[in-house]
Amino acid sequence: MSWDALYSSAFDKVRGNIGKVGGVLLAYNTNIDAIKYLDSADLERRIGDIGKGEVLRYSEELPEKITSLEHLFGGILWSVRHGKAAELFVESCRVRFYMKRWGWDELRMGGQVGIMANLLGGVYGVPVIAHVPQLSRLQAELFKDGPIYVPKAEDGKLMLVHPKDFAGDEENCVHYIYEFPRGFRVFDFEAPRENRFIGSADDYNPNVYIRPEFRDYFGEIASKARLAIISGLQALTKENYGEPLEILRGHLETLNKRDIPVHLEFAFTPDETVRKALVEVLGMFHSVGLNEVELASIMDVLGEKALAEKLLSHDPVDPITVTEAMLKLAEKTGVKRIHFHTYGYYLALTEYRGDFVRDALLFAALAAAAKAKLGDVGRIDDVAKAMDVPVNERAKPVGEALVKEYSMKKGVAEVNSYQLAFVPTKIVARPRSTVGIGDTISSSAFVGEFALL
Ligand code: AMP
Ligand code: GLC
Repeated sequence: MSWDALYSSAFDKVRGNIGKVGGVLLAYNTNIDAIKYLDSADLERRIGDIGKGEVLRYSEELPEKITSLEHLFGGILWSVRHGKAAELFVESCRVRFYMKRWGWDELRMGGQVGIMANLLGGVYGVPVIAHVPQLSRLQAELFKDGPIYVPKAEDGKLMLVHPKDFAGDEENCVHYIYEFPRGFRVFDFEAPRENRFIGSADDYNPNVYIRPEFRDYFGEIASKARLAIISGLQALTKENYGEPLEILRGHLETLNKRDIPVHLEFAFTPDETVRKALVEVLGMFHSVGLNEVELASIMDVLGEKALAEKLLSHDPVDPITVTEAMLKLAEKTGVKRIHFHTYGYYLALTEYRGDFVRDALLFAALAAAAKAKLGDVGRIDDVAKAMDVPVNERAKPVGEALVKEYSMKKGVAEVNSYQLAFVPTKIVARPRSTVGIGDTISSSAFVGEFALL
């Protein structure tokens, strides 16, 4: 069977069964994304106004957080130069106000939880319970209609209501997203790839503020779920990670007791202490999702420096090196499923076996291509609109290397005592926007697996 035929049959199978999955609990990060598509003349003029020299300095080495306009513009230039995503906390209210006045082209749902809630609940019709640190009116409006719920406590009783019915008048947590296309030029720099720089003007999500409803009623909330996805731990630092991590452990214990498989969406976590702490609790998760930079950063804290370097030295990243790294991580932590995604292909290493693991990856790749192509996926049938996006040519040698090394057949192989699944993805040449594609991939593949079981 060709990849296109496998794609089409995977989509039909997941669409037919996704309604049977049951409730998905999503925690912890939800915010408002204010998206601005960068204009190079405007950007150059603004940088000129504040002084190019200092800005260029930060474009070589990212600051830890944003406390000045030089940091903000340095960060944007850093992302453009490398074609890489970066996200920094905006501490200064002067910079926050500047960003607000600079403005945006579009307001969208943001944060892994918010994006996944709209996709799973609003598009796939899978009931979700979401943690929303602050429910302002604007935040509530960004939720799609459908079986999306937030906990609300009244007179000591827990209710589940749609965010629009929560009637909260809480704060706006705004992340400013500066997007640029491949080939975007500013001064002498040219972006090698489309990507974005994020400035988070938000005191809640970066500190992983956990709402009282989720502290007081977690057992009851968990009793409504069959699956859970945890995200948003990436911005923690060694100064503030203690308390949220303790709450997380408690939540994981509750979920484990109920045999609820939990997926960790491992976004890039710059703080090494936090990264180590996350690797230490990884065994309490069923599954983890990551890309090459994130996998390399984990190899780094596991003391596997050579593997970490090898992961970052090839483009597309060498699948045999990725598999070695995934095996190390699985053996060391006991996590049962590792989903690796990169530009061009995905791999899943699982303790269990079956073609459904590969088929869930295919469904996720189709959903990602639809998101890249359309910007927003409105209905599950829109996912099929990406069928005409060609399967990525760059993934051909990747597939061949896996056949040679592990005798892989139709994207499935046996490696040590694990199953390895591979799919070449569909890459949209000129995506509408890049933010949220990773979340689409991870949640579609994880939930898709349970639809196919
Ligand atoms: P992340 O690395 O978490 O930002 O997720 C980005 C992922 O989105 C990449 O690993 C790719 O697999 C996928 N992706 C990025 N750009 C595109 C595109 N233009 N078309 C399809 N998938 C894409
Ligand atoms: C991070 C950002 C958020 C964005 C999301 C997309 O969580 O903080 O603004 O929407 O990534 O994946």
